[in-house]
Amino acid sequence: MIIPGEATQSFAAALADATGDRLGRVEYEQFADGEHVVRVPETVAGERAVVVASTVDSDAHVQVLQLQDAAREAGASEVVTVLPYMGYARQDEAFKPGEPVSSRAMARAVSSGTDRVLTVNPHEPSVCEFFDVPATAVDAAGVLADPLPESLTDPLFLSPDEGAIALAATARDAYGTGETDYFEKDRDYDSGDVTITPSDAAVEGRDVVLVDDIIATGSTMSESVAVLDERAASRIFVTCVHPMLAGNALTKLSAAGVEAVYGTDTLERAVSEVSAAPAVARDL
Ligand code: R5P
Repeated sequence: MIIPGEATQSFAAALADATGDRLGRVEYEQFADGEHVVRVPETVAGERAVVVASTVDSDAHVQVLQLQDAAREAGASEVVTVLPYMGYARQDEAFKPGEPVSSRAMARAVSSGTDRVLTVNPHEPSVCEFFDVPATAVDAAGVLADPLPESLTDPLFLSPDEGAIALAATARDAYGTGETDYFEKDRDYDSGDVTITPSDAAVEGRDVVLVDDIIATGSTMSESVAVLDERAASRIFVTCVHPMLAGNALTKLSAAGVEAVYGTDTLERAVSEVSAAPAVARDL
């Protein structure tokens, strides 16, 4: 049975479609003091329970732990946890003295209630080593090619930093043609300001597909778009696996004059045009 977290119901339904597993009905409640309770009324005794929840905020983290426990309590034979989007994955080291390795803390907590974990394109695949149970990083970047028009002009699949070049290459491979390249990015830790240093790739008159793992504040992508505009790129498509789109990120990107912004459904947003569920189903 697929057991959805509250913020991940569409993804869970898509996963149930892809695997043919039954989609469980879950009740979510929050008490007056802010505490949560979940209920899984149907029996899962003797079955594999697949808890599917993007840990998009602190409440979602709590619900994952509760759903795992509810599945065990109900006698599930195996509990698998799918984190389509793993929150805190980017804090994978103590960047300043006194800080936690938040992703390790979250991974340990999630490990306590499950037999194995799957997560989609974490910021660094090495985050999987923080889990105390087998954990798999599923690559769903190929699906980012699906919404692109068939007739891109001399396409360049570009990542805003070197860390995301593999995603750009996967999207290019899925599209079938085009070059890849990456920019250099620096972020001021205190202000969050992003500075992009372009590569010497020729972009004039070309269609450019910017690919990243996540769009959070939109600063990385909008700074990259500004550079591409200066260099007279033709159409600019902005795509990512996890469309977090915090605050005014979408406005920033729309104002930058991009052709389209889209991502997968690991985070359920208006721009979640493609599903990462089939990729997860293959590894489940
Ligand atoms: C960091 O290196 C990630 O790959 C993303 O580029 C980054 O997290 C995007 O954040 P923002 O949208 O806030 O610039």
